[in-house]
Amino acid sequence: MSSDPKEYKRVTINSLVKMKKSQEKISMLTAYDYSMAKVVDAAGVDVILVGDSASNVMSGHETTIPITLNQMIYHAAAVVRASHRALVVVDLPFGSYQSDPQEALRSSIKIMKESGAHAVKVEGGNEIKESISRILNAGIPVMGHLGLTPQSIYKFGTYAVRAREDEEAKKLLSDAKTLEVLGCFAIVLEKIPSELAKLVAQSVNIPVIGIGAGSDVDGQVLVIHDLIGLTKEFNPRFLRRYMNLHDEMKNAIERYVSDVKSVDFPNRKEQY
Ligand code: KIV
Repeated sequence: MSSDPKEYKRVTINSLVKMKKSQEKISMLTAYDYSMAKVVDAAGVDVILVGDSASNVMSGHETTIPITLNQMIYHAAAVVRASHRALVVVDLPFGSYQSDPQEALRSSIKIMKESGAHAVKVEGGNEIKESISRILNAGIPVMGHLGLTPQSIYKFGTYAVRAREDEEAKKLLSDAKTLEVLGCFAIVLEKIPSELAKLVAQSVNIPVIGIGAGSDVDGQVLVIHDLIGLTKEFNPRFLRRYMNLHDEMKNAIERYVSDVKSVDFPNRKEQY
């Protein structure tokens, strides 16, 4: 593969469907800014999600509810400028699509026009099907999100595993089929039993990407800050940390502070 990211062919929604058919797993990771997205794109991630988890990891909010449409667009535009290979998907934030289909379309158009992203993601199934149709009818690709949907956290009251009971599992399967019939190009399944996730992935022809949904799905997604260990306090069972960046950064910054205090930095070679 070329080391020049500009030479990469862009991943499209069609490539993802082909990957499902050929059983090649899809890698998806969040990014919210230019520098991080450049690394994620160069590392060969297939889909970059500008998640509304930006509300947590970039702004320090407890939930994803406060982040606004304009803030999502700010993050998304920076990610788009950095990415040459990955498909860039942007979360429609809470309150920008639930009230009526017109608003859902207006919000999606604003994201597509002002950020240059390639698709939007929405949380929910049957209850928002008119909004999903409206967005799709305008030619904007939509990714669904079922299971633990953080925008509904106050309705659930907990971040525990979803759809353990029969009734909720049946609704989730039916919602997944609805999303496929409506024309969504993929579905994220968050924090549900792996057997149910496997059944969903086998029941629809569109890619199913899991987070805390086991390995029998078509791909995986994580929040980048969790993967690189910048967040220390979030430790769900599904998370694999590939680095301990929080401690490595802290150590580097402590050495910098010490070098400044002792006038070790800058040295003769580091000045004009
Ligand atoms: O906002 C986000 O980061 C997400 C992922 C957890 C799927 O929706």
